[in-house]
Amino acid sequence: TVKRVTAPDIAARKGGTPIVCLTAYTTPVAEILDDHCDLLLVGDSLGMVVHGLPNTVGVTMEMMILHGQAVMRGARKAMVVVDMPFGSYEGSAETAYANAVRILKETGCQAVKVEAGPTVADTIAYMVQRGVPVMGHVGLRPQAINVDGGFKAKGRGAAERKRILDEAKATAEAGAFAVVVEGVAEGLAREITQAVEIPTIGIGASAGCDGQILVTDDMLGLFDWTPKFVRRYGDLRAEIGKAVGAYAEDVRARRFPGPAEIYFAKAG
Ligand code: KIV
Ligand code: NA
Repeated sequence: TVKRVTAPDIAARKGGTPIVCLTAYTTPVAEILDDHCDLLLVGDSLGMVVHGLPNTVGVTMEMMILHGQAVMRGARKAMVVVDMPFGSYEGSAETAYANAVRILKETGCQAVKVEAGPTVADTIAYMVQRGVPVMGHVGLRPQAINVDGGFKAKGRGAAERKRILDEAKATAEAGAFAVVVEGVAEGLAREITQAVEIPTIGIGASAGCDGQILVTDDMLGLFDWTPKFVRRYGDLRAEIGKAVGAYAEDVRARRFPGPAEIYFAKAG
């Protein structure tokens, strides 16, 4: 049996070889990514890339648990972290803890992630002190879209830069084992990485972070959306279109199924 990567393993990699992370939502994709990644995130981005929602606000605990279970059936070695959905952790530390415990118990994942607003540090501490490893998330916070008015790069002004740096420090001091830094300029990403003792996992935050994450469906060209920070390593939309087009033509021409793909009655 393979030993699974743990929260302390990830924390210990501060400043070392960059930590490789991707999102995963299904068993077969988790199986493929597990060969290459240190950490798989069941991101609430699944609301957008799997379920067709306009943003992540509508994602529920049930959706996160269902996909967390699917990913855990595919991942053997990588650490699996499940996002806490909007509304499941902001109200109180007690509610956050209860929901986090539900996610850990029902999926078997190793940790949860929360988007760290100014009030979330106390909640992170509450959960960590009670046995729930927590990953933070600062900078661009997709769950705050209704406050921010859109997905926008963060920390371009001095006041916001200081607020994000403070949130990252508070997240680390609260006991988070790592922190996602999203959509900030390189200078701020490097400043945060130097200021905190836990690994920073960047997305749209430069190579100055201790690790990187992307939404798998974005980097594979499956989800039709290319913010500046996504590098396309594949074009699955085109691949699937080609395959399905060929199938459709074969069906219409009665070329599929062929002799090798049908059953024959037994003699006698
Ligand atoms: O939901 C998600 O996929 C995320 C990552 C992009 C960090 O939070
Ligand atoms: Na997320």
